[in-house]
Amino acid sequence: MDSDERQPMSDDICFLDGEFLPLAEARISPLDRGFLFGDGVYEVIPVYHGRLFRFDAHMARLERSLGETRIDAPYDRPRWRELMEALTERRGGGDLSLYLQVTRGAPQRRDHAFPDGQRPTVFMMASPLTPPDPRGRRVILVDDTRGSRCDIKSVSLLANVLLRQAALDAGADEAVVVRDGQVTEGAASNLFIVEDGTVITPPNSPRLLPGITRDLILELAAGDGIPCREAAVSLAALRGADEVWLSSSTKEIIPVTHINDETVAEGRAGPVWRRMRQLYDSFKATLADGDRREAAST
Ligand code: PDD
Repeated sequence: MDSDERQPMSDDICFLDGEFLPLAEARISPLDRGFLFGDGVYEVIPVYHGRLFRFDAHMARLERSLGETRIDAPYDRPRWRELMEALTERRGGGDLSLYLQVTRGAPQRRDHAFPDGQRPTVFMMASPLTPPDPRGRRVILVDDTRGSRCDIKSVSLLANVLLRQAALDAGADEAVVVRDGQVTEGAASNLFIVEDGTVITPPNSPRLLPGITRDLILELAAGDGIPCREAAVSLAALRGADEVWLSSSTKEIIPVTHINDETVAEGRAGPVWRRMRQLYDSFKATLADGDRREAAST
């Protein structure tokens, strides 16, 4: 054991990034990817009579979770065991629920892409585990909406992070998601196609984020007499489109020239995008103009 593990016992001792310290003093950066993206994994391990319960099964699941999310394993199994036993001892042994979380760390800036050479954040705490009340319980039946509420601008962005990274690993810039043969949006952007001069974007639904930039594009296009429509976009329509764009608050409107290894039409930004770009830039410029500032900023 190193010197950290020889610190005194305390009621609320926890473990954070290599140190045992009182839970009330533990601090994590707001840039931590667990906080910003839900970009982390966790385990809850029971401790009975001061002994870790089903340690290897919990470790196997943790290792799998780390592997699937490609978060660097901070410790090997023997080291995890030492740390967990040290925490258990400091919490007085007995029956405990040991919670551990590993995130992709706290790099200097927020970016969906995996950070380079970032040390993961490791946190562990232990709470008393009381025997469950054996009374029967009531349940309700619900639709399984887990992972399907893309309309909520939630920080549960692990899936988006993994999709964006998959695009970057493939030498692309963004991943466009496909469900049941329909394309809905990008990992962090909305999607538009242009078909025979008409701008088309999928309708708002639980499957995509109602983008602010998306709505502005529709508004500006309509104001300029460009035909536009909110309609489902099939994979075939995407592949056959004259133009494809992505939009977001940080990327504004960007043309897509390649989808996998195929070009979009001639593989160049199209004329409707160029017009939209002008409209968008002019609209942005109104923020500098006192009279119209209010309209642009609402
Ligand atoms: N992302 N869809 C998803 C999944 C997004 O994360 C975003 C934006 C958009 C576009 O929404 P808006 O036009 O309101 O920015 C669509 C931000 C920029 C991000 O996470 O960095």
